[in-house]
Amino acid sequence: MTQSWRLDDGRQTIVLAAIRERLPQVIYWGAPLPATEDPGTLFAAHALDVTGGMLDENPDLSICPEAVRSFPGQPGLILRGQDGTPLLPKFCFAAEMSEANALALDYDDAENGLRYSAEIALDPDTHVLTLRSRIKASEPVHLHWLSAPVLPAPQLCDEMIDVAGRWCGEFQLNRTPWSPGIRYRENRTGRTGHEHFPGLIVPVRGATNAQGEAYAFHYGWSGGHRMIAEELPDGRRQVQFGHAARMETTAATEFQTAPLYAVYSSDGLNGCAVSFQRHLRDRIVTWAKPDRPRPVHYNCWEAVYFDHQLPVLKDIADRAAALGAERFVLDDGWFGRRDDDTSSLSDWEVDARKYPDGLDPLIRHIHRLGMSFGIWFEPEMIYPDSDLHRLHPEWALGSEDQILGRQQKALNMALPEVRDFIFGRISAILAKHDIDYVKWDHNRVLPMPDAGQTRGSYALIDRLRAAFPGVEIESCASGGGRIDFGILSRTQRVWLSDSNDALERLKMQSAAALFLPAAITGSHVGPRRCHTSGRTLDIGFRAWVAAQRHMGFEMDPRELTEREETVLREVTAWWKANRDWMMAADILRLDSADPAVIAEQQQARDGSQFVVFAGKSATSAQIAPRPLRLTRLEPDARYAVELRNRSDASQLARGAPALKTRTIEVSGNWLMHHGIVLPWSFPETMWVIEGRRL
Ligand code: DGJ
Repeated sequence: MTQSWRLDDGRQTIVLAAIRERLPQVIYWGAPLPATEDPGTLFAAHALDVTGGMLDENPDLSICPEAVRSFPGQPGLILRGQDGTPLLPKFCFAAEMSEANALALDYDDAENGLRYSAEIALDPDTHVLTLRSRIKASEPVHLHWLSAPVLPAPQLCDEMIDVAGRWCGEFQLNRTPWSPGIRYRENRTGRTGHEHFPGLIVPVRGATNAQGEAYAFHYGWSGGHRMIAEELPDGRRQVQFGHAARMETTAATEFQTAPLYAVYSSDGLNGCAVSFQRHLRDRIVTWAKPDRPRPVHYNCWEAVYFDHQLPVLKDIADRAAALGAERFVLDDGWFGRRDDDTSSLSDWEVDARKYPDGLDPLIRHIHRLGMSFGIWFEPEMIYPDSDLHRLHPEWALGSEDQILGRQQKALNMALPEVRDFIFGRISAILAKHDIDYVKWDHNRVLPMPDAGQTRGSYALIDRLRAAFPGVEIESCASGGGRIDFGILSRTQRVWLSDSNDALERLKMQSAAALFLPAAITGSHVGPRRCHTSGRTLDIGFRAWVAAQRHMGFEMDPRELTEREETVLREVTAWWKANRDWMMAADILRLDSADPAVIAEQQQARDGSQFVVFAGKSATSAQIAPRPLRLTRLEPDARYAVELRNRSDASQLARGAPALKTRTIEVSGNWLMHHGIVLPWSFPETMWVIEGRRL
C-alpha cells in the first residue's frame, strides 16, 4: 500500500487505500474507527486469501474497477474510441486534494489520453456521503457506462431492498436475496420513472427499521439510472450507480455522473432514512421562501378536470379557503383549447373561451380569499397535430413513427431554441400574474434514454428559477414519475402519486419516507370515492393520511357533507398548528408487531415532542391490537402521551385501555420496550398519538 485516505463524521468512518499508483479501494466503511487505527494494517488485514482456481492475487475492487486488471465483475467504466474500438483504461495516480470531510482524486491513463476523477464528500451533520466521478479524454470518445465511485456492500447481509412501482402504485419495496452474480436494474424510460426509483438499501442481517446496521444509496438524476449490485465469485460485493447505459448519444471529451448519495446507519433503516430526509430538506432543496410555513394546497384537478368554468372555480375556491386552504393550484385545462388530453400542450396561452378576461378575475378572487395562486404546465411536450409541430417538426424528440404517450411527443430539450421558446411562453404567464407556484408535469416516457434531454430540462428549470426566484415548483410526472435528488435540487415538492386513495397513500408514504421528508411530499385529501381505485374511504382517514405530509385537498368541496367539512377543517387546523415542527421533523418508520398496522413516529429534532400515526391498512389476524413500540426516545425521560382522535373510537371497542380516556405519563423505555396499547379499530382508520417530553 502506498496511499490511504479517510473521512470521519463521528457516526461512520470510510477508509480508502491504494496499492502503489493504482485506483484506491474502499477498504472500510462502517462504524467509527479510532483515530489511531493504522491504515497500513487495515489494508494488509483486508486482503483476501487465495486458493486453487483463483488468480495469484485478488484483483482490486476499486472505486472504478478496471477490466484490464483481471477484474472478474462489472467494470466501472466502458468506453469506445470514435472509430468504435473498445478502450481498456488502466489508471495511475495523478493528483489529490483533500480537505476536512472531502476528497478529490485524479488518475491518468496516458496511453488512452484519459483522466478519471472521483469526488467524495461526507456531510458531518446529515452523515450523507456524496460521490461523483468524471472522465476527461484528450480526443472525443463514446461513453457506454460510467459508475459513480464504487462502494462495497457488506457480506453479512442476506438481502437488498430496492424500489419498484407503477402509476398509482409508487414506492413498492422489493426484497431480493444476494446471490452470486448481479442484480441489475436499469431504467431506460428517460425519466426517473415510477418503475425504478434510483435507490437501494442494504440491511445487515437482523436490521429492522429501528435497530441494526444498514447502508443506503440514492442516485440523484432524473434521466433514468442503472444500478448494479454484484457478488463476485470470491464473495466480495460491489454497488455501482450511474446514468442508464449508452445515454450519451454523441462522442465527447468529458462526461460525469450525477451525485450518488450514500449513508451508513447503526440504528436501523431509520438511521438511513433520517439522513436522507434531512439532507434533502436542508442541503438539496432550495426553498423560495425558507421562512414561510408550507401552505395548505387546494388542487382543482379531480374536481373539474378540463371543465374550467369561472363561477364554479370561484365557488370551489371559496369553499377550499373556508376549509383552510392557503394556495389554489389551477391544474391542467386553462390553456390552448385543452378540453381533453388530446391537444394544446406547448400552446401556453390562456384559453379565451374559458377565461374571456384572462386569468386575472380568478387570481384576484383567490388572492382576496387570502390564498396564493399556482398553475400547471407540462413544458417538455408537444402534439404531432399542432402548428408548432408543423412549423418545427425537428423540435420533437424521436422518430416520426414512434409510439405516442398520452397522444403526445416530447420536445427535444437539448436544443437551445426549444428551451428559449418554452421559456418565453412560461415566463410570459409568470411575469403577467402574481403566481407563486408551478406544478411541472411530464406525462410520458421518452422514446429512448438521452442524457442531453435531462440536462436540457434542468437548464430550463434553472433559468426559470433564476428569473422567478419567488416561484416554487412541484415535480410531477403522472404522479411520482420524476422524484429524485437531481430534480429536487431545482424543485420544492413532489407529487408522490396520482392515487389520492388514502389506503394506497399510507403504504406509499411509509416507503417513500426512507428517502423523502414530509416537507416536500405532497399529499391531498381526495374525493370520497377515489377516482383511481374506486374505493370509498371515510373523511377522517383521508384527512389524517394527508396530514402526515405536505397537506392539501383535491376533491370537489361541493361533495362534502357537513360532518366531512367539520372533520376536514379540524384536521387542517391541527396540521397548521403543528406544521412548523412537523415539517422539520424526522419520520421514523415503526416496527409494527401487527403487519396490518403501518405506523410512523414524526419526531422534533430536539426530541421534545412527537406524533405517531398508526394507520390500519387491513383487518388484523389477532383480535386485539398489539402494542406499538416507539423509538428514539430518551430512556429515562417521562412523556405525556395522548390519543389525539380518541373520539373516533368505534362502538365495537368496548374495553378500557388508558389512552381511550386520558393522557398517560410514562417513560421513554416503557414506550420503546412495551409499546402503546391502542383501542380496537376498523381497517382504513388512523390513530394519531401525540407525545411531549416532560
Ligand atoms: C398528471 C398529474 O399527475 C395529475 O395530477 C394532473 O396534473 C394531470 N396530469 C393533468 O393532466
